[in-house]
Amino acid sequence: MATHPWIYGFFSYALLQCLFVPALAFSTSNVHIVYMGARQHGGPELVSELHHDILSDVLGSKQAAKESILYSYKHGFSGFAAVLTQSQAKLIADFPGVVNVVPNIIFSLHTTRSWDFLQVNPFVRDGIFTKSRSGSGTIIGVMDTGIWPESKSFIDDFMEKPPSHWRGICQEGQKFNLSHCNRKIIGARWYLKGYEAEFGKLNASDGVEFLSPRDASGHGTHTSSTAAGFPVENASFMGLARGFARGGAPSAWLAIYKVCWATGDCSSADLLAAFDDAIFDGVNVLSASLGSPPPLASYVDDILAIGSFHAMDKGISVVFSAGNSGPYPQTVTNTAPWILTVAASTVDRSFPTIITLGNNQTLAGQALFTRMDLNKFYPLVYGEDIASIGADETSAGSCDSGTLNGTLARGKVVLCFQSRSQRSDFVAARTVLSVKGVGAIFAQSPNKDVSSSWNLPYVRVDFTTGTTILTYTETTRNPVVKVSPTKTTLGQEISPEVAFFSSRGPSSISPSVLKPDITAPGVNILASWSPAASPVRLDTTGRKLPLQFKIESGTSMSCPHVTAVVALLKSIYPNWSPAAIKSALITTASLEDQYSQSMVAEGAPYKLADPFDYGGGHVNPNKAIYPGLIFDLRTSDYAHFLCSMGYNNTAISLVVGSSNKCSTKSTQFLKNLNLPSIAIPDLKQSLTVTRTVTNVGPMNSTYKARVQTPFGVSVRVKPPVLVFNSTVKKHKFKISFCTLIRTHGRYSFGNLFWEDGSHVVRIPLVVQTVISDNFSET
Ligand SMILES: *[C@@H]1O[C@H](CO)[C@@H](O)[C@H](O)[C@H]1NC(C)=O
Ligand SMILES: *[C@@H]1O[C@H](CO)[C@@H](O)[C@H](O)[C@H]1NC(C)=O
Ligand SMILES: *[C@@H]1O[C@H](CO)[C@@H](O)[C@H](O)[C@H]1NC(C)=O
Ligand SMILES: *[C@@H]1O[C@H](CO)[C@@H](O)[C@H](O)[C@H]1NC(C)=O
Ligand SMILES: *[C@@H]1O[C@H](CO)[C@@H](O)[C@H](O)[C@H]1NC(C)=O
Ligand SMILES: *[C@@H]1O[C@H](CO)[C@@H](O)[C@H](O)[C@H]1NC(C)=O
Ligand SMILES: *[C@@H]1O[C@H](CO)[C@@H](O)[C@H](O)[C@H]1NC(C)=O
Ligand SMILES: *[C@@H]1O[C@H](CO)[C@@H](O)[C@H](O)[C@H]1NC(C)=O
Repeated sequence: MATHPWIYGFFSYALLQCLFVPALAFSTSNVHIVYMGARQHGGPELVSELHHDILSDVLGSKQAAKESILYSYKHGFSGFAAVLTQSQAKLIADFPGVVNVVPNIIFSLHTTRSWDFLQVNPFVRDGIFTKSRSGSGTIIGVMDTGIWPESKSFIDDFMEKPPSHWRGICQEGQKFNLSHCNRKIIGARWYLKGYEAEFGKLNASDGVEFLSPRDASGHGTHTSSTAAGFPVENASFMGLARGFARGGAPSAWLAIYKVCWATGDCSSADLLAAFDDAIFDGVNVLSASLGSPPPLASYVDDILAIGSFHAMDKGISVVFSAGNSGPYPQTVTNTAPWILTVAASTVDRSFPTIITLGNNQTLAGQALFTRMDLNKFYPLVYGEDIASIGADETSAGSCDSGTLNGTLARGKVVLCFQSRSQRSDFVAARTVLSVKGVGAIFAQSPNKDVSSSWNLPYVRVDFTTGTTILTYTETTRNPVVKVSPTKTTLGQEISPEVAFFSSRGPSSISPSVLKPDITAPGVNILASWSPAASPVRLDTTGRKLPLQFKIESGTSMSCPHVTAVVALLKSIYPNWSPAAIKSALITTASLEDQYSQSMVAEGAPYKLADPFDYGGGHVNPNKAIYPGLIFDLRTSDYAHFLCSMGYNNTAISLVVGSSNKCSTKSTQFLKNLNLPSIAIPDLKQSLTVTRTVTNVGPMNSTYKARVQTPFGVSVRVKPPVLVFNSTVKKHKFKISFCTLIRTHGRYSFGNLFWEDGSHVVRIPLVVQTVISDNFSET
């Protein structure tokens, strides 16, 4: 059963334009994933045999089983994907050793400047970049649309040979052979069976897709080069944002798992196969910029949660994007507690574009505007004033498709206002071009993402500027306008701010696990691109030029930033658990912009950002190497957590691969899961939560607690002082919350700090008070 493909984002992100092929029909194939938990039955061959036996039993013959099976998952965990009818799936679900059977679903894909902005560079003394030797020794696995291996970002100068424990392969295919892997791209695999079972055979004869690890869409090349790209001098997007383009961990190795195709769709059966292989191959970090919208599947039905659970169990950190469905609450996805979930924020670079009106008034907009020449005065009209006969005026005001009169628009710049029904600047620009207008000015709620504006002549302004232009248009006999070429500025924007589109917490499936975890740059990010996905750029003589680099926005772009920082930390502390690394990132994250003012969140209206926007805050790589204390977690802790979420004992035992008993006290584990955050969605009167910290700083340390109390509650920490020495490395502490108000509250936010004079270990507190379970009269 295929769910509708979900393209992250409310507006027309570049992703949507590049990857969404609406002509795709949805087949009603019956791919199911039979998940059997941790591997328990000997070697991979035996496990695979078992899968075939189960399937033969149900389908009646070995031959039928062979035809039906797509994947046997046998390295990181046990299970298989096969074509099954509903009733066959039901039968298999009752087999001993089967945790559950879930239908295949389809997931969608969700700089030069950003790394200097994060101070990840060789110029910071004893910084993370230097200490980690820029990530050497660490292998980053990227699950995405593949890679363009010829990009300069992936040359392997100065790279070391892959480590001896590496078991990955370079899987050949269309326009991809062994020579395309090197000391940078040390592995490349591709997964198509689940996708084809849903959508039918992929036709790759037209050059729009490659049946190989080669990237036809650009997305995977962008994320891979952001994480681990080799520095490329003089990179730019048509001359904008010119500078060094590089990854955050340029000495880390890359292992490519192509699970998404140029349509932007990725099948869960394929993804699980990639997890299985990545665990076998021996990656250290896994990065995936994709997801599926609410309703969120339970953690034992969610393939991404299952795959990442087994990766985490093997010590692999898994980093996922939070989604692009902001600024609305409860839109965050990929919310399992063992995943690092990444929100997106802005950097201090902008692309101002000056608009001059006929009365010599100048106004500022934003665009990525280099090719079209609007740098002289053109007649200016408002869309509403040139509606074609029969078109709705409001739709014409927002330049919706087919609403403008070609006779009246020809040769003019058209002013459009975002409306409830037409929110996309991209649609407006296309409408204007289709009626031979020369360009569009699109007024909308302010936000800084201009990545979708490339290659079309339009400028984005906020409603205030748009209104000024409208007033001028309506009060002048022959209004005219001129648009100057876009410039690149650095340091002139207050930043970071949480991006408008970034998905927000709380998690709709487990609100007591704070999500997202952290934010990182994800707006207007320059990185490598696939020339195969850039047929539209022309030079001055009309020659097609392949695009080597491209500016993109999304949590897809912020995710590999955190992936790179995780890789740098792994290089410094190879033995730290995924939970320890995550803790170090969250407790050291920053809450401020460059002027030490509280970070704000883009949205309507602007507001101070809170943990539902950014989790622990904005990633602060150079601080993360000295966290002082960490909140660590083991696989068994997560098993208790699953108990407390109401999962069946038998199922959990299979998942974790050892017998598990959910104790009667298991509801305790939900609040006491040792996360570097405390979220209480339903505080009735009082509640006490425990956490354990491990000292990873100086051996003799004394930490004192300090609390910024959320509104409506009192908070007590016991003990208020923690003393560590050569024998005492860990301390448990209790933190008690008491309601002070007798009303249904709303979420309020605070912080708990442990401070020893040099380290500040901060975790966010998120509390909502409720009177009782329901609004009963008292
Ligand atoms: C791999 O492909 C390249 C072209 O992309 C070709 O030049 C080279 O000979 C091929 N190598 C092998 C081993 O097939
Ligand atoms: C694949 O696409 C090409 C070019 O678009 C077309 O000529 C060919 O018939 C297609 N093949 C199949 C099997 O659909
Ligand atoms: C950078 O590239 C541009 C063309 O894209 C070229 O004109 C310029 O000279 C280059 N600058 C350097 C320093 O290489
Ligand atoms: C705008 O400025 C130009 C040059 O500075 C001048 O020639 C023109 O008269 C001005 N127009 C108006 C309407 O002020
Ligand atoms: C477009 O405008 C012209 C001039 O006002 C008018 O003659 C024509 O009927 C209009 N066409 C449509 C489709 O609205
Ligand atoms: C747990 O689930 C399995 C099937 O998944 C079922 O057979 C078993 O009865 C369940 N156990 C409990 C205690 O609910
Ligand atoms: C820690 O404290 C103990 C006892 O006070 C002392 O002997 C030891 O030298 C200290 N160690 C360090 C590394 O400061
Ligand atoms: C460490 O602290 C504990 C508890 O305060 C104390 O009992 C122990 O003697 C200390 N160890 C050293 C080596 O100072």
